[in-house]
Amino acid sequence: MTTSKSRKKVYIFDTTLRDGEQCPGATLTPEEKLEIAKQLERLNVDIIEAGFPVASPGEVEAIQMISKEVKRPVICGLSRMAQRDIDIAREALKFASKKRLHVFLATSKIHREYKLKKGKREILKLSVQNIKYGKKFFDDIEFSPEDSARTERNFLTDVVRAGIDAGATTVNIPDTVGYTMPDEFGQLIAFLVKKNPELGKTVNLSVHCHNDLGLAVANSLAAIKHGANQVECTVNGIGERAGNASLEEIVMAIDTRRDLMGVYTDIRLKEITKSSRLVSHLTGLVVQPNKAIVGRNAFAHESGIHQDGILKKRQTYEIIDPQRIGLAGSEMVMGKHSGRHAFRERLAKLGYELKAGELEQAFERFKKLSDQKKYVFDKDLEAIVEDTISKVPEIWRLEHLKITSETGLAPRATVRLSREGKTDEATSEGDGPVDACYKAIEKITGLSPKLVGYAIQSVTSGKDALGEVNLKLEIEGRDVSGRGTSTDVLEASVKAYLFALNKVGAKVLGKSSSPI
Ligand code: KIV
Ligand code: ZN
Repeated sequence: MTTSKSRKKVYIFDTTLRDGEQCPGATLTPEEKLEIAKQLERLNVDIIEAGFPVASPGEVEAIQMISKEVKRPVICGLSRMAQRDIDIAREALKFASKKRLHVFLATSKIHREYKLKKGKREILKLSVQNIKYGKKFFDDIEFSPEDSARTERNFLTDVVRAGIDAGATTVNIPDTVGYTMPDEFGQLIAFLVKKNPELGKTVNLSVHCHNDLGLAVANSLAAIKHGANQVECTVNGIGERAGNASLEEIVMAIDTRRDLMGVYTDIRLKEITKSSRLVSHLTGLVVQPNKAIVGRNAFAHESGIHQDGILKKRQTYEIIDPQRIGLAGSEMVMGKHSGRHAFRERLAKLGYELKAGELEQAFERFKKLSDQKKYVFDKDLEAIVEDTISKVPEIWRLEHLKITSETGLAPRATVRLSREGKTDEATSEGDGPVDACYKAIEKITGLSPKLVGYAIQSVTSGKDALGEVNLKLEIEGRDVSGRGTSTDVLEASVKAYLFALNKVGAKVLGKSSSPI
């Protein structure tokens, strides 16, 4: 077992506010950037890349605001290899207590030839010149040979060497287009460390992986295994195109598999969920439900077998305790795959202890409902239980309901009720479908109450929500209330009516009844 003392620290360089903000549609105001930066400080990232100062005056303003208020992490600004960019970065970072200049220049053949139209020698010269210029104002300089992963190894070695000699304190190896594979990238990092033994020791060795093949996190972890001691990442994995390596996935992989990784980060895990939600809220970028660690379903269980396992021992189906990342706990999604065990537990949580027969009845109703609607919420369960354990004896029970309604014609309702094993059916027209149902019921029961109150509301949200009808009937000089729930509002109306009639009917028929 390794302890954090024997493990090496991996620095978390957060670029949510720079590469993350480059994500289409994710533009943030300076105030929003500051709010995220404060949360990143609470999350305890080591470095915040706050922006690309030369991009706009608003960017400079945002970095200055962050630099004034966020004091614990290093604040970093990105710059091309150009004196003007570096001067603007100096201005942006002038209030930072700890600051870093991050300079980059593409080194791969395709970028040299088509984008920069510069030869190797010129790239080397520009890099050295600008790192040296930056060094006049910054002690902490990060150098990124952009598209390193597609750069010829020998040239990359020369560039890295030149960068270190010019004064870079961190060398960052970007997989700019998310092209590399974990083994390949791990080997590249090992190769660079072999050529420059100070990397990962006196000079930080960073990686910056994009997710075009969905491998950004895997590539970052492979790099750590081979000597990288800094990873660049973003909250929720946002960033250019398919995004950057996701901070929460890297951090939780390192923490969960510390037995294999042998490194640690200083991230406050409990702040992960809050950070994810804030970034999603302010950027408007919705987190996919099945996203690892922070997706809505990452700790939600619907299968009956899984729910049963989780209730017996959480670790059967969860490798991370959700409370560690700031969630309240695992979530049991009540739906058609849920079993009796989870159903009973959820009812107990809601304060219901049902007897065996009642539980069975309630479970049957729950199963029926979960066939009709995708999610069964706590309010649905409460409605089911209250219907099931209601003490009113069921004299008349709804067996079948058919409504026909055509424009220009009065609606017709056919209602079939059962009473003591016998069924009776009646059809009636009415002013509306509810009225038609109630008239048909009157024919069967022989009771003619006056409807003095009727209200309908949905118990939960969504098109498939349970509707709840509450009504009041005046019958034999007394007010009788009734309540019924169903995903079909007409059925709920009939149930509410029968509920009230059953209360009265018990008296009329000489049966015991709950007080009216
Ligand atoms: O993807 C990339 O190469 C970058 C650099 C600026 C580090 O974002
Ligand atoms: Zn990038």
